[in-house]
Amino acid sequence: MAVRPVVVWPDERLRQPSIAITTIDDSVRALYQDLVDSMYAENGLGIASLQIGDPRQMFIVEPKLAGRPDSDLPLAFMNPEILWTSDEQQDSEEGCLSFPDIYIKVKRPMRARVRAMGMDGQIFELEGEGLLARCLLHENDHLTGKLLVDFVGPLKRQMIKKKLQKQKGETEEAEA
Ligand code: NI
Repeated sequence: MAVRPVVVWPDERLRQPSIAITTIDDSVRALYQDLVDSMYAENGLGIASLQIGDPRQMFIVEPKLAGRPDSDLPLAFMNPEILWTSDEQQDSEEGCLSFPDIYIKVKRPMRARVRAMGMDGQIFELEGEGLLARCLLHENDHLTGKLLVDFVGPLKRQMIKKKLQKQKGETEEAEA
């Protein structure tokens, strides 16, 4: 139960293969709690396990965005699978906790349907529209090692790398 540092690109841990979760035991419950704590600490809408350096297939989404009451716990998606996406697209800027202060225009389907296992061990399906669809697809991408920089060309990718390395240097200086 802890806030864990978010792994920032180009850290290779963001690209590691993810592993399916078979049983919900104490270590899976601890992973969920760490994801919740880490997401709220960073004011994120969602976060995936690879972003805190854990390869198990889980992401979470903030309850209000997932269509739940504000007071609910974040919704967990284990072993997620995108079942369907709409032909209709949306195009807007997207951020990611692993790319602090970077926003990239990403074209995504307007609606997406996902199937996953929840913390109660039950398989459920959820269809999202607009920002929720974007969030589900973004977090699902994380578990396949796909990242925001994969949507841009090599020049922009290099710019982002420089910016993040500069930020990292500044943080280390401030902490020293
Ligand atoms: Ni992200």
